[in-house]
Amino acid sequence: MGQKETLKVLMVCLGNICRSPTAQGVLEARLEQAGLKGRVIVDSAGTAGWHAGKAPDPRSQQVALQRGYNLGHLRARQATREDFDEFDYVLAMDSDNLNDLRVLEPAHYQGHLGLFLDYAFPNQQRSVPDPYYTQGDQGFHEVVDLIEQASDAFILELKKTLRSVNTHPSNAAAFFSGALQY
Ligand code: 4NP
Repeated sequence: MGQKETLKVLMVCLGNICRSPTAQGVLEARLEQAGLKGRVIVDSAGTAGWHAGKAPDPRSQQVALQRGYNLGHLRARQATREDFDEFDYVLAMDSDNLNDLRVLEPAHYQGHLGLFLDYAFPNQQRSVPDPYYTQGDQGFHEVVDLIEQASDAFILELKKTLRSVNTHPSNAAAFFSGALQY
């Protein structure tokens, strides 16, 4: 992928009520902290449409809120083939999600389809474990832990792909005044 002004990222799990809305909320917050709000658009979807239109699972919302992420405005939807026309990155939470997305992926997709955790744990094919059927909060906290790590690693990748993201405004002013040469 060449360098771009803005990038679009789709996070995908099975139901779009636990892992991928958490990934959307965490990545959006970390992007804002990194000064990249508006340069990267994030959305999420599920390979299944069972929960379409619903807010994230209350357990996901509660744990995310404890960790500083508000997911209350998000609503589930099913991923479609057309998503590949729109999104530069389509990132699966687990290997089943990835296999289902490969069936939807058009033959000449120009973007990146892969596992989200690859950014934090390269070559390990790690999945975000599905917390939906677990008891208690621990599985939901583990989801946030893994997603925070992957988000920070992914932001480093996004910075490489976004045009001139490393040009600090003060450097840009100096550059245009002729004081600095690149
Ligand atoms: P998610 O979790 O894929 O992380 O949103 C699930 C949510 C719902 C179901 C399975 C997983 N379900 O079977 O309804």
